[in-house]
Amino acid sequence: MKVNKKNRRTIWIDPQDPHIVRVFDQRLLPWKIVEEPLCRPEDAIRAIREMYVRGAGLIGATAGYGMYLATLAAPVNDDAGFMNYMQGYAEELNAARPTARNLKWAIDRMLAAIRPAVGAKEKQQAARQAAGEIADEDADFCRRIGLHGRELIRAISEKKKGERVNILTHCNAGWLAFVDYGSATAPIYAARDAGIDLHVYVDETRPWNQGARLTAWELQQEEIPCTLICDNTGGHLMQRGMVDMVIVGSDRTTHTGDVANKIGTYLKALAARDNNIPFYVALPSSTIDWEMDSGSQIPIEKRSPEEVTSVMGVDSASRIQTLRIAAEGTEALNYSFDVTPARLVSALITERGVTAADQESIHALFGR
Ligand code: MRU
Repeated sequence: MKVNKKNRRTIWIDPQDPHIVRVFDQRLLPWKIVEEPLCRPEDAIRAIREMYVRGAGLIGATAGYGMYLATLAAPVNDDAGFMNYMQGYAEELNAARPTARNLKWAIDRMLAAIRPAVGAKEKQQAARQAAGEIADEDADFCRRIGLHGRELIRAISEKKKGERVNILTHCNAGWLAFVDYGSATAPIYAARDAGIDLHVYVDETRPWNQGARLTAWELQQEEIPCTLICDNTGGHLMQRGMVDMVIVGSDRTTHTGDVANKIGTYLKALAARDNNIPFYVALPSSTIDWEMDSGSQIPIEKRSPEEVTSVMGVDSASRIQTLRIAAEGTEALNYSFDVTPARLVSALITERGVTAADQESIHALFGR
C-alpha cells in the first residue's frame, strides 16, 4: 500500500545487504517514517515485544525473518548444535507476545523448513526462502480477503442504491498490521477500486491509539474518506443509523469461531448486535488456532499500566512527546485484547471465502 504515493510493504530484506531485514518503526508513525534495521536475531524479538512491528500478520512475518536472522547467527559446524540454537531462539521469540496466533504458526513453519536442510548454508537458504514465502503468502491472503469482503460491501451498497456505505473499524487491521493490504482494510481498498462509494469510521483505540495513529493515516495515504472517533462513540453512531457494517481483524480465532482482537472489540460487537448491524471479522487462516476450542483459553496479553496513564503525540514544534494524563501514582489495568464470542460474529472473511463463525463451517471451508 502507499506511503507518500509509493507502494511499500511493511517488511523487506535490505536490497544492499541480505543479512539485514528492514521494517517501519510503527511506534513513531504517523509523525516520523523511520525504517528500522533488524541485524541480529534479538532485534526481531525486541521489534515484536516493543511494538516496532505489531498486528497478527506482521508479527508472523517478522518471526519468519527473525528465524532467518537466527540461522545466520547459529553455530555452523554441527547440525545438532545449529538446531539446538534454533530451538532455543524459537522459544524466546515465541514468548515475545502471547496473543497473536501467527507468531507460533510462523515459528513452527520456519522450523519445519529448516530442519530437513543439510548443513548451515542450506539451512540459511531454506530459512530465507521460507520467510519470504510467509511474507508473500500473507500479502496474497490479504489481497484475497479483500476480494471476498468487497462483495459484502457491494451488497450493502446495492441495497442502499449506491449511497455511501459507512464502515466502522477498530484498531489497525490494515496493511501496517500485515505485509500488505491488511485484513479488515483489504475489502475497503478492493471496494474503493471497484468504484463503490464508502467512508470509514476509525476507532481511536486507546491505549496505544492504533486507530488514530495508524489506521487513519494509512487510509489517508490511500485517499479513503475516513473520520476518527473516540472509542466510546461507535454505539451512538450505530443507534443513529450512521454505520452500515463493522469490519475488524483478529489476533487469534479459535476453530470454533471465537475471536480475540484488540481490547474494545467485544463492546463494538455487542452494540452492533443490539442495532442489527453486521459485524464481520477479516482474517487469514494463519490466525486460526485449530487446537483451541474456546476463546476463554486464549492467552490475553497484559501490558504496562503506563500505556493507560499516559498518551503519546506531537507538540506544536512537531516533537514527539509522552504526557501523563492521570494523577501520579494512579493504578491502571491494561489488557490488550478481548474475546468476541462466535455468536456475535455475522461472518468471518478469509482468503478462502466468507464463512459462518462456527466449527462446522470453518472446518468445511478449510477441508479439515
Ligand atoms: O497490539 P497490536 O497492535 O499488535 O494488536 C493487533 C491489532 O492491531 C488488532 O488487534 C487488529 O485488529 C488485529 S491484528 C490484524
